[in-house]
Amino acid sequence: MVLLGLCYNTIMRTYIVGNWKMNFTIGESSIYLHKLLKRIKPARGLQIVIAPSSIALQPLSLQIDRKKLKLAAQNCNAKDYGAYTGETSVTQLRGLVNYIIVGHSERRHVFNETDNMIREKVAACIRNNITPILCIGETESQRSFGETKDVLRDQLISGLADVSREDLDKVIIAYEPVWAISGVKGAHPAVPDDIAESVKIIREHLSDTYGKEIAEKMPLLYGGSVNPSNAGAYLTIPGIDGLLIGGASLIADQFIDIIELAKKIKL
Ligand code: PGA
Repeated sequence: MVLLGLCYNTIMRTYIVGNWKMNFTIGESSIYLHKLLKRIKPARGLQIVIAPSSIALQPLSLQIDRKKLKLAAQNCNAKDYGAYTGETSVTQLRGLVNYIIVGHSERRHVFNETDNMIREKVAACIRNNITPILCIGETESQRSFGETKDVLRDQLISGLADVSREDLDKVIIAYEPVWAISGVKGAHPAVPDDIAESVKIIREHLSDTYGKEIAEKMPLLYGGSVNPSNAGAYLTIPGIDGLLIGGASLIADQFIDIIELAKKIKL
């Protein structure tokens, strides 16, 4: 697949990631996982990931079949241990999860996480051999002021600043325009053309900074109001390697429909 002179690796994995946010008790999480495990079949080239709330990670890690699904944490602290009340370090998550969502827009905008904090979290993931899913995305006002390109580049530069060249293949990027994330006031789903424009910005930046080969290989997911009716359109955008799904990942039928679509389109 060729886009702007960049040739995307067609054997690259596809990722479908469900971000459960602050939903489900431990019991509900376990029942839901049981349902998913019964209905999901492993497929080569497709990585399915769920990100339950932190309290459910340990019990689910005992229940999960890692051939079918992997676990992600929704957040972490960048320090390995210490006097940080209420926090969980990447070191503590090691052995439980394969992925950590870092810099989600709710962390950036509701909990005021700075680019520096996010950079340190990405580095902590790499140090602990866990794949960070680095979320980037512009707000509605940044978009309306024509700042999307600068915002995406700044978030990429800062988020990846402490990742060595050799470790760049351990990073996943998720593009989530804040204005398209359900739950955000006035949110509305993005049209694929908007996403394609941002994908171009992201891939070009990666190519200019790290070279074509790294830019082509780095998985890039899309997230924001994804559901079974629009998932197909997002998955066919050149340069998109998967989806980060919030609301629709809480409903088994919808999440599974999206997984099936991904298999049809990507594998
Ligand atoms: P949404 O959430 O699919 O409910 O919009 C996506 C996300 O915040 O990761």
